[in-house]
Parts: sequence; C-alpha cells; structure tokens
Amino acid sequence: MAAQTMDQLVSLCKRRGFIFPGSEIYGGLQGAFDYGPLGVELKNNLKQLWWRTNVYERDDMEGLDAAILMNKLTWRYSGHEETFVDPMVDCRHCKGRFRADHIKGKCPNCGSTDLTEPRPFNMMFKTQIGPLPDPESYSYLRPETAQGIFVNFKNVLDSTNRKLPFGIAQIGKAFRNEITPRNFIFRVRELEQMEIEYFVRPGDDEAAHKQWVETRVNWWVNTCGLDRADVEEYHVPAGELAHYSKATVDLMFRFPIGMEELEGIANRTDFDLGSHTADQEKLKLTAKVAPNPDSIARLSYFDHTTNQHIVPFVIEPSAGVDRGTLAVLTSAYEEQQLDKGDVRTVLHLKPALAPIKVAVLPLKKNHDGIVGLAKNIKRTLQASGEMRSVYDDTAAIGKLYRRQDEVGTPFCVTVDFQSLEDQTVTVRDRDTMAQERIAVPDLQPYFRERLR
Ligand code: GAP
Repeated sequence: MAAQTMDQLVSLCKRRGFIFPGSEIYGGLQGAFDYGPLGVELKNNLKQLWWRTNVYERDDMEGLDAAILMNKLTWRYSGHEETFVDPMVDCRHCKGRFRADHIKGKCPNCGSTDLTEPRPFNMMFKTQIGPLPDPESYSYLRPETAQGIFVNFKNVLDSTNRKLPFGIAQIGKAFRNEITPRNFIFRVRELEQMEIEYFVRPGDDEAAHKQWVETRVNWWVNTCGLDRADVEEYHVPAGELAHYSKATVDLMFRFPIGMEELEGIANRTDFDLGSHTADQEKLKLTAKVAPNPDSIARLSYFDHTTNQHIVPFVIEPSAGVDRGTLAVLTSAYEEQQLDKGDVRTVLHLKPALAPIKVAVLPLKKNHDGIVGLAKNIKRTLQASGEMRSVYDDTAAIGKLYRRQDEVGTPFCVTVDFQSLEDQTVTVRDRDTMAQERIAVPDLQPYFRERLR
C-alpha cells in the first residue's frame, strides 16, 4: 500500500477534484495550489481532527486566530528580518535559480558548474500597507503563524487566568517566498500551518519536549492512519537549528519523494516571549535577545509560588496542513491489480478524514421506486449533519463503487428491488468490499458507530 510516485497522487487529485494547480487557465502560478470540492473536505477534516485532539480533548489548551498581517516590528524582534533566509545560487549558463542546499554542485537544469556563490535570500513576502507609497508603510505576510501567538501571550493569559503549563493552538495561512517551490503541495509559497505554543516553567522544557514528540507521532499514526514504519524522528543537529531553537525534532514521513519533514517540534526556550518583551533587563532570560525599546508589554508569567515574574519556555509542535494532506493521501493510496490487467484504486482514508462518508447508489436509475428511496436515504443521512453523503446514478453499479473507492468513501449504500419489499439496503465496505443488508431505519446508528 501507499503511493509510489507523486504522479499517481497528482493525477488522482486533479481528476477527482482534490487539488488543482493554482491559476491554471493563465499558465499557473508556481507554488500555489487550489483545493477542489473533495480536497477542501479532506483538508478541513484534517484540521478539525487536529483541533479536536489538541483543543477540545485536552484541559490545558486555548485556541486563537490571529491576523495574518502584523506590525512589521514583530518580524524585526522575532529575528525573521535578519535570519529567515535561504542560500540562493544562480546558474550563469541557463539563468536558473536554486537553493544552494538543494543542489549537488551543478545546475539541475543544464548540468553547468558555472554557478554564482550562494547569497542569502529572505523568504518573507513584503507588502505595502495602506494607499500611500510611503517607504515605511510596509509589513510582511507572516511566514509562520507562531508570532501571532507570542504577541498575544499576555492577552490570552489575562483573559483566561491559565496556570503553567498551558498551550495556545492556532491554524492558519503562512507565506514563504520559496526559491524553488516543488513536489506538488510539499513545498509551496502559500501554505497552512497547525501550530501549538506550549508554555512551561523553565527547567520543565526538556521533559515537555519529549512528551510532545511522542504525542504528535501517535496522532499522525493512530488518528490520521499513517503507517508507524513510515514516520521517523530526526534530531536536528546543532548547526542546523533555527535561530530560536535549543533543540528540534522533525517528524519525517516517507513521501513518494523520500523521507521528508512533516512536522517540526522545537524547544524555542524563552527566545520569543523574551525578544518581544519590554523591561527585558528585569527578567532572567536565558536566550540571547536584542534590546526591545518598542514593545509595550512584559510577556511574563507571575509565579505565585516564588512571587516572581518568569518568562516561560515554549515547546512548539508545528505541522503543515498541506504536507499533512499529502502524507495522508500518500499513505491511504493503493492500486490493486485485479484480473485481466484491471486496476482498482482505493484510498484507505480513516473515516473521519474521508471527504464523503456515505454514497447512496440506486441499482436501477430509471426505476421511480428505487430512485425515490435512494434519494430519501441520502437526504435523511445528510440531514443528521454528521455524515456528508452523496447520491450518484450516473453509471452502472460496479463503476459507481470504483469511483467511491478512489476518493476514499468508506461506505456505499445500494438500493435494489428487495429494498422496496423489505426496507433493507446493501451496505458495502470500501476496504473489505464485504456487503451486508441493513434495515433502512438502522442506517444512521450503523454509520455513526463506524465513522468515528
Ligand atoms: N513556527 C515554526 C515553523 O514554522 P518550520 O519547520 O519552518 O517551523 C513548520 O515549519 C511546518 O510547516 C513544516 O514542518 C512543514 O510541514 C510546513 N511547511 C514549512 N514550509 C513549507 C512550505 N514551503 N510548503 C509546505 N509546507 C511547509
């Protein structure tokens, strides 16, 4: 099982309306993709599962939805203006432009070794704020959602009276002017992140870091269905750490392009709260931060046990929604070789992630009784609000099953002549292809139990 090539996924996603190239009718826009009717459902389901697990099913988490546009000072004190750079090289022969750490000495376009020296390229998208062409009226599209959490630390603390340890969770868009976006939705310029900033007492950080790595691996495997053998931990060496990190563990997943980062879990120490805070000198910071004469808030926590202000350490599990979607698709994908060269493509998605939960199919599309009952069943299931259902009568039953298998629909309901006599229908399971007869009034509880 699992997709072997990116082309298998790109082709399925385009054909069945999961993911389209952005601005396709104008020749596309590199690094931008549009999620179609099924893709938006899959992506929303992934985000909802993440929110449910991390916000609703824990006692120590608050949610947030901060603005994408932030005061430009945020990016000065976060360190991104200075350090959010990738090394860029140009090929003097074909004029191609590449990330120096992505190529092995020669131009991947034309093979020339006549390359420029690497030079730093800042990946933040700069944007003008307001109508006047004032050189000072600019900001950046956020390259990570995390900073929206740090600058709101005091607001959340004061409005919720949380005690350490606690976390703030956020899902939202981020933008990176990647030098070479590539590999479908793996590396894009407009991406979405699911980020947690988990605040702990200094000294408790290393244990919390370890715990979060375990928690997040379990989530990808048990809740999202990734194969444990395809997930690895990569302990980022000291020389490769981001400017804010004391230690980072990347969760790597076996994508069709190889083992690559799916989520980063960093120990950001007191760097961010410390660097955005006023009165830094009154606090015992461990991170080296630049003086901040611009902030009006002291982003600290009053510790009632010691009667002192402390700056919490932060553990940050940061996952990409697009990479998560790609990982889930990769792992769910299977091409089964059937008789006579026939191939059955199936997405073995966890039911909670599946874009469509139940497809209702009439055995005969021109029989009023069968069609009427099938449409009724679809409407009733849909009205429950619990399971997205579709009705399809545009092909013969075998073809209809295949269509649903290919997009990961866990159950198909078939209405036939017997249904009109005894009010039972056939329910077919996507993975086993086993069929059983279920009474129409029992369908809702039957699915409710199996779709969790
Ligand atoms: N706040 C920390 C942070 O942003 P990161 O490792 O740069 O850390 C976190 O990004 C996650 O965001 C990555 O593990 C990846 O899943 C996703 N991500 C980052 N850049 C991406 C890109 N250009 N395209 C798609 N996903 C990306």
